[in-house]
Amino acid sequence: MHITLPKIIQGGMGVGVSNWRLAQAVSRLGQLGVVSGTGLDQVLARRLQDGDLCGDVRRALDHFPFPQMAQRILDMFFVPGGKKPDVPYKTVAKAMIKNHHWLDELYIVSNFVEVFLAREGHDNPVGINYLEKIQLPHLPSAYGAMLAGAAVVIMGAGIPVEMPRVLDLLSRHEAATYPVRVIGATPETDCLRVFDPALFIEGATPPVLRRPDFLPIISSESLATMLIRRSGGSVEGFVIEGPLAGGHNAPPRGPMKLTDDGQPIYGPRDVVNLETMRKIGLPFWLGGAYGTPEKLREALADGAAGIQVGTAFALCEESGLVPETRLKLIRQALEGHAKVLTDPVASPTGFPFKLAQLEGTLSEKSVLENRVKTCELGYLREPYVREDGSIGYRCHAEPLQAYLAKGGKIEDTVGRRCICSGLFADIGLGQLQANGELEPAVVTLGDDYAKINQFCSLDNLDYSAKDVIQHLLG
Ligand SMILES: Cc1cc2nc3c(=O)[nH]c(=O)nc-3n(C[C@H](O)[C@H](O)[C@H](O)COP(=O)(O)O)c2cc1C
Repeated sequence: MHITLPKIIQGGMGVGVSNWRLAQAVSRLGQLGVVSGTGLDQVLARRLQDGDLCGDVRRALDHFPFPQMAQRILDMFFVPGGKKPDVPYKTVAKAMIKNHHWLDELYIVSNFVEVFLAREGHDNPVGINYLEKIQLPHLPSAYGAMLAGAAVVIMGAGIPVEMPRVLDLLSRHEAATYPVRVIGATPETDCLRVFDPALFIEGATPPVLRRPDFLPIISSESLATMLIRRSGGSVEGFVIEGPLAGGHNAPPRGPMKLTDDGQPIYGPRDVVNLETMRKIGLPFWLGGAYGTPEKLREALADGAAGIQVGTAFALCEESGLVPETRLKLIRQALEGHAKVLTDPVASPTGFPFKLAQLEGTLSEKSVLENRVKTCELGYLREPYVREDGSIGYRCHAEPLQAYLAKGGKIEDTVGRRCICSGLFADIGLGQLQANGELEPAVVTLGDDYAKINQFCSLDNLDYSAKDVIQHLLG
């Protein structure tokens, strides 16, 4: 590990909940701030269409090493003063396996901007988080983050064996490939995403980049040993995350059994053997309702380097959640109504997903039913082989007829929610629906939501990232 081990990792929270502001605040305080790398292409495009009123994005673009590329992005999206509220955001191309040069530029630039801003004004390390399952943007995204000096890459929602090798190659500006899962693929199907920095660099090749430390998020000790054995590059440590964490959770081991209210049941087989983790000898952090001073002490006593905390930071004032939603959530919890359900099918990723119950969001059946179904963003589309051998893309949450026409099974669509569009709505970047209304939000939090009274009270709802860190460190 190249960085000094922090006791607290502020977990990456997409989309844009752990934005550069939150990560910068945490890193300035000497803990590890982590920006979410998910959906940054659209986050950047929409911030620019909203006029970039504080000038942060444009300031970062001024420092981007390839100025013509930065200018192309500005020309495409920047709206001086911001677009009118009744004008929808421009749609951006959806990711595909085949190279799309312009979209790759947007991935590079947007990842650069987020990490650059998080690093501004201090010298402490900043990390970036990706979901393995959203595979198509990984190569240009990681390159953009590395151009801005990301010190750590943290990756969950899948088994990221490819990433250590990719980071090695990209740090030397060498071409890299990423094998993509394609449903129904045969040996002839082209499943390789290819990315060559040489096609994007303007002028002389920049010096070798810092190779970020790589921390996969795991839910079993066997995954840790497998990742070390099978990765073609080094792994510097692990985040071990249990089923109480916010966001996506690993499914329970063995057949899925549900409680009466439909939540997955976890058992002793889902508890990670820390003795094995200690023997492996790499640093590890524990996540999933570890956000209290007592749980931090317990983690350290168990041999962990520290903890990864999400929920407490998601509700602090630097978080990307729009203040109205954030304060509603805080008030609701302080009044004793914090409720989070683990939904086994809501997320098109297929992983259980924690849904915070909040009026007016997709956690409510009526909101779900009133939403105009569409697949605007497509981050969770899965590639599949069509009858003619070409590759198509489909999402479990897209309009039903379209999904079925692509050979999808009806049983895979039951209970799914369009979390891509909902997560953008959480951070004030929601799209207008065809009926003129804004996309409804969908909020995820972990079980620590109920413990938010550690940091705030009904007299004083707001608290900062500093309050969280000071409280946890005691
Ligand atoms: C709003 C929210 C969004 C999250 N998004 C991601 C994500 O994009 N990638 C990821 O690896 N983990 C994600 N997580 C998990 C957190 O990074 C963190 O590991 C987890 O929340 C830790 O547990 P805690 O919620 O008990 O504090 C998210 C959590 C929250 C609350």
